[in-house]
Amino acid sequence: MLIKKLKCMERILIIGAAGQIGSELTLALRTQFGNGNVYATDIKDPPPEIREGGPFQLLDVMDDKHLIHFVIRHRITQIYHLAAVLSGNAEKLPLQAWYINMNSILNILEIARLVEDVKKVFWPSSIAVFGPTTPRKNTPQLTTMEPSTVYGISKLAGERWCEYYYKKYDLDVRSIRYPGLISYKTEPGGGTTDWAVEIFYEAIKNKSYTCFLKEDTKQPLLFMDDAIKATTRLMEIEKARLMLHTGYNIMGESLSPGDVASEIRKHIPDFKIRYNPDFRQEIAMTWPESVDDHMARLHDDWKPVYSLERITKIMIREIGLKIEKAKH
Ligand code: SER
Repeated sequence: MLIKKLKCMERILIIGAAGQIGSELTLALRTQFGNGNVYATDIKDPPPEIREGGPFQLLDVMDDKHLIHFVIRHRITQIYHLAAVLSGNAEKLPLQAWYINMNSILNILEIARLVEDVKKVFWPSSIAVFGPTTPRKNTPQLTTMEPSTVYGISKLAGERWCEYYYKKYDLDVRSIRYPGLISYKTEPGGGTTDWAVEIFYEAIKNKSYTCFLKEDTKQPLLFMDDAIKATTRLMEIEKARLMLHTGYNIMGESLSPGDVASEIRKHIPDFKIRYNPDFRQEIAMTWPESVDDHMARLHDDWKPVYSLERITKIMIREIGLKIEKAKH
């Protein structure tokens, strides 16, 4: 009963609520904490269910003055900062990406430190924190980290800053190193793992896909529902039980475009895939094929439950419905 009461007192700010993770995490948190207690924000319009299902406001995380007023005015207790320039896009404008990715997390950490009501921060890290000198298979939680992309450098620096704020100011920051996330609600944009979503859309729309990675390049992937569960569980754990204030490794399966294409062909037999690797192939070769996520699994027995077979069925069904709906 007491726990329920405390939960109701949480007021949550989501930055990047229109994005791939934000559009799903917002709904999960609204179910958990009540629609009116989860303030969704973004610099762009979110899907209708986010805009209509609870408070939404256009807000730029780079605008620290508006942000701090928002946090104080709504007596925010938890901040989820999900906005970022992803790996592929960041390589096109490295300094702008660095500026946005770094200054946004620093704005959040500073505001969380200064505003007493804010008790917890969530910030997504990524498999991009690893680099060419990291072991690519079953990548350990703690290992050599020399990222060679601007996105990866910003995520690694962000992890160090999160830990710094935890150690220096006792700020409760929590993070997950997301692998490629497969989802059907909102598409990702400008990442090196985007193929794992694009492939389904193109298979359904055109029965063909030209992939920007090679057929056998494996990456750690995870279905969005598993990622959301890992995130909400991590945020629920008592602070004293946390093993890390940097990012926890997590993954579902290690899959290549060839693996996913074969599974899609079980549903769409004439699906054709071509491979035309671009600059993202080089990025992928510096990232893990699979990660050791035993630390995340130790927390409340988290483990992924969606297999490629199940994900493929869901993706084909849901994207098919979405495309049909858009026609009417
Ligand atoms: N999905 C991200 C990207 O590809 C990695 O975190 O950039």
